Amino acid sequence: MSLKKAVLRGCGAYLPEKTLSNDDLAKMVDTSDAWISERTGIRERHVAADGERTSDLAVEAARAALTAAGMGAGDIDLIIVATATPDLTFPSTAAIVQGKLGVRQGAAFDIQAVCTGFVYALATAEKFLASGQHSRALVIGAETFSRILDWTDRTTCVLFGDGAGAFVLEAVEERAAAGRGVLGSELRCDGSMVDLLYVDGGVSATQTTGHLRMQGNKVFREAVTRISQAMETVVEKAGMAMDDIDWFVPHQANQRIIQGVVRKLGLRTEQVISTIASHGNTSAASIPLAYCAGVEDGRIREGDMVLFEGMGGGLTWGAALMRA
Ligand code: UT7
Repeated sequence: MSLKKAVLRGCGAYLPEKTLSNDDLAKMVDTSDAWISERTGIRERHVAADGERTSDLAVEAARAALTAAGMGAGDIDLIIVATATPDLTFPSTAAIVQGKLGVRQGAAFDIQAVCTGFVYALATAEKFLASGQHSRALVIGAETFSRILDWTDRTTCVLFGDGAGAFVLEAVEERAAAGRGVLGSELRCDGSMVDLLYVDGGVSATQTTGHLRMQGNKVFREAVTRISQAMETVVEKAGMAMDDIDWFVPHQANQRIIQGVVRKLGLRTEQVISTIASHGNTSAASIPLAYCAGVEDGRIREGDMVLFEGMGGGLTWGAALMRA
């Protein structure tokens, strides 16, 4: 059986209307615009309105991606939502999104790998499409981290934002794909570091939602080495070199982590698509949001080689390579 290629047909983004600047946060906790922007690169973030759910953000991004792909609900037979902030304990946010979009065929499920969620979801969708089990997938990263932040904890509440991004991928015969598609992925987890980044509530543990807790500097110390290793592995396995990469679309956690990776791998700053200043860390949504920004402003074009990476709670981390 010949494997198919998972080719990107369109992407879409959605950010809630309300924004929160660093100065706004300085009125809420003991922080400053100078500290936040120097240590992270973040200047503002978007926050979902009361009653606006993760699925609402996901549906907006999905509709934009479907429009970009020239497709409709009837074309999609797989929906994967990467989220750590689902609407409900169950059903999956993907099922809710499927219902709202009017998709009535195929499968829908969530993936939980926190900030690495989109890389895990992209890798999963690629396997389903390559095997021929499904034909067209919506891969969505959507988060409302504002709902799990402790707004009195300055070490975490300044870092995150809400948003959603979506890809429409189509299974295409290798010859017709002409080199395009998801070319590889490297997914990793080391559960011995659960305590570095977690939410202190949950169904089975506390029967509450809980708040995000992070030992940020310890996560920071793990980040550059592990992310760089995953990126090098995925590029090497595809038989390529860092010189072949056109665009680097990283998870947007901290501009200093991104710069560290760029330096370590010999990439150039101009190759980085960074949205951290205006989005903050939107967890599983950050990669598709950044990708869409790069497409919208004309930087990323069909045929370009794009390298993705993510790292988050678990710790999980990973990288994926795609020819746009
Ligand atoms: O996306 C999921 C993965 N997450 C990440 O990749 C996050 C990784 N970590 C980071 O990005 C950084 O570690 C942070 C941005 C979270 C923190 O930056 P840092 O340079 O590692 O600072 P730190 O945690 O070592 O704290 C330095 C100081 C501390 O004060 P003392 O103990 O030196 O007096 C903190 O209390 O900065 C203080 N601090 C703040 N000051 C003003 C921490 N948060 C703030 C704040 N405003 N918001």
